[in-house]
Amino acid sequence: MNTPPQVVTTIADLATARARLAGTVGFVPTMGSLHDGHTHNMRAALDRADHLVVSVFVNPLQFGPNEDFETYPRDLDADVALCAEAGAAIVFAPSVDEMYPAPQQIHVDPGPLGDILEGASRPGFFTGVLTVVAKLFGLVKPDFACFGEKDYQQLALVRRLVDELNLDVEIIGVPTVRDDNGLARSSRNVYLTEAGRYDDALAIPRAIDAAQRSADPLGAARAVLDATDGLRLDYLTVRALDLGDAPTSGPARLLIAAVVGTTRLIDNAPVHVGENDV
Ligand code: PAF
Repeated sequence: MNTPPQVVTTIADLATARARLAGTVGFVPTMGSLHDGHTHNMRAALDRADHLVVSVFVNPLQFGPNEDFETYPRDLDADVALCAEAGAAIVFAPSVDEMYPAPQQIHVDPGPLGDILEGASRPGFFTGVLTVVAKLFGLVKPDFACFGEKDYQQLALVRRLVDELNLDVEIIGVPTVRDDNGLARSSRNVYLTEAGRYDDALAIPRAIDAAQRSADPLGAARAVLDATDGLRLDYLTVRALDLGDAPTSGPARLLIAAVVGTTRLIDNAPVHVGENDV
């Protein structure tokens, strides 16, 4: 049985609790509603660091005016229980006023990589993400920070943030956690089961499977997704591993965003373009 984490809600209390941690600190930033995807990130952090700090903060800066900030699932008690099980030392769960006591004037501009894919359909999203991640790094002062590969573009941008702003944090990408049917774990999956749309969503892992078996991953994934009535594609693309233009052959990344019912889902996976069909 792990010692329960210290739950702090103010920046001052975080500073006091953080100062008491001797040794290295791994950090997992979250928006709560934690599931085993987050648990994997926490384990990856504790594999490398002496202590784990988890933040639980639904960041208003990364939600558009018509997005689900107000209704985003929140359950701090359940989140703290999961952090306790994972062995977290500190859970930082600030209010919006604590993080943004005045309207934020300084924002991190993600550059062109922030305008494509998720950024194209969610303007301002990555500005909000990078701004809060930079603030959290400043507050938590971690040695390592773990981010899921499920949000592949976020991971790429956080790597770039740390690189270009010379932040002293090592970024660890953690492979996507999937349920028994291959659907990537996401806090938003609860909306699918409530609305009975779960089976439609399974076209996404089926498309990934088809893509990974084909020399034409884009065509193979498109064939599966086009044949699914209950799913509307937002984007489907193959890109280089750093999200630059797709290679004509070799390793690449397939990225999908689709709406099932009213729930927008994203997923991505490694694929191979060209010869070497598996
Ligand atoms: O991936 C998330 O949950 C959020 O974008 C993050 C990194 C916690 C920033 O709010």
